[in-house]
Amino acid sequence: MPDCKKYAEEIKKLEKQLNMVEEFKDILTVNKDEIAEIKEKIRAALSSNIDEELLECLTYKIAGIGILTPFMFDDDLEEVMVIGSDTPVYTFDRNRGMITTDVALDRDELDYIIQKIAKFSGRTINVDNPLLDGRLPDGSRVNATLYGVSPRGVTITIRKFTHESLTILDLIRFETMNSMVAAFLWLAVEGLGTKPSNILMVGGTASGKTTTLNACSIFIPKKERILSIEDTLEINLKHDHWVPMETKPPDPGSQNEITMDDLLKNALRMRPDRIIVGEVRSSEALTLFTAMNTGHEGCMATLHANSARDAISRLQSHPMDVPDIMIPALDLIVAQTRLMEDGKLARRVFEIAEISGKEGDTFLMNTLFEYNPKTREIDTKILNGQIIRELSNLSTLSIKEINREIEKRKMLLETMVEADLGYKELYDIIQTYYKDPDKALEKLSQSVEHGL
Ligand SMILES: Nc1ncnc2c1ncn2[C@@H]1O[C@H](COP(=O)(O)OP(=O)(O)O)[C@@H](O)[C@H]1O
Ligand SMILES: [Mg+2]
Repeated sequence: MPDCKKYAEEIKKLEKQLNMVEEFKDILTVNKDEIAEIKEKIRAALSSNIDEELLECLTYKIAGIGILTPFMFDDDLEEVMVIGSDTPVYTFDRNRGMITTDVALDRDELDYIIQKIAKFSGRTINVDNPLLDGRLPDGSRVNATLYGVSPRGVTITIRKFTHESLTILDLIRFETMNSMVAAFLWLAVEGLGTKPSNILMVGGTASGKTTTLNACSIFIPKKERILSIEDTLEINLKHDHWVPMETKPPDPGSQNEITMDDLLKNALRMRPDRIIVGEVRSSEALTLFTAMNTGHEGCMATLHANSARDAISRLQSHPMDVPDIMIPALDLIVAQTRLMEDGKLARRVFEIAEISGKEGDTFLMNTLFEYNPKTREIDTKILNGQIIRELSNLSTLSIKEINREIEKRKMLLETMVEADLGYKELYDIIQTYYKDPDKALEKLSQSVEHGL
């Protein structure tokens, strides 16, 4: 990290000089190559020779988010966090966990960065609107708070965008789930062309809910029309017929907010085959469950909860207020957690459950899969629960044949993990599999040969 503090005065002067040049106005990027390019342009624009460290600092200020810029180059960092001025910046490293850095920003630097991001995101942050939910050009999400709500100082929380979203193969490789769980989810998401499951991914903050949701979406057959609804775009699909939608916060002083619920209600008029909702929190839960109860199948969403059971009680309580009678339309709850194992950060699916009935006021649940912390394996508890029995009733396959199908997909996934397929090839093979399983296998063996 360059030490930019000592150049503060010089940076100010040079910045004024460069501000005259149209090319250097209003740029914001955190892309390493683009930053390097702009650095050379700045070097050329300044007639005199310039100290290399100063040039770096100047470039970060003009083109990026100041001294926070280089953190954005490190793919191992998941989050960058500022908790006030003149206090260390924290980062969260995917392998090492929380790190206290030796970088600190002063108040001016923080204000500058926040305003720059607000402007880029088309949002306003000031004393009257002290909260900002914004975005960086690479898709990273930025939250900022001002003194009014965070008395210790201005905060910035950057949730970095991972360029290549993790695939289902990565999740197997990282042992977030095993190939059996992945094969089961494959079957549930696709639904054998008859009944795709309505699924909730639940877990704590940063447990990997959205990532798992995104990874499982690859199983949606490509002929289906997909609508996704989020506060901030995170879901990222390869499907052509996909309409992503994003909420709009109210402009200061006006009422024109577009909420999740507004978007979801609207989506129901857009003839969706699939609805994906990122982070259900409030009244949109009722709309989602109404959709599930009126024949919309294969809905998928994430929800903040500590377990499958906790998810249900949250759904039933305010502000989601889903009536009991609607709850059973939910087929599957996948619960995930983030934990430290051997000093390394791990994310695990620890429970997959289906709702099997109701006794008095309590919903009965089948635990299909459960993580065993002793063996560190995910045990299959009940495979032939409600979902598989229902699929068997609706399709021409017997339960035995469905189990064989799961086994087949499990083997296929294992081969694809081994062959280390990228997103595009994986998508291609899964989609081919629906039309012609033999051809998919053939494609896969070609990929394996190429890989060798
Ligand atoms: N299974 C996983 N293994 C490793 N890293 C993961 C996994 N799932 C998610 N991540 C990383 O963790 C961070 C948070 O994931 P995300 O899916 O956004 O969590 P949530 O939606 O639960 O808040 C992201 O940087 C993501 O790349
Ligand atoms: Mg999420």
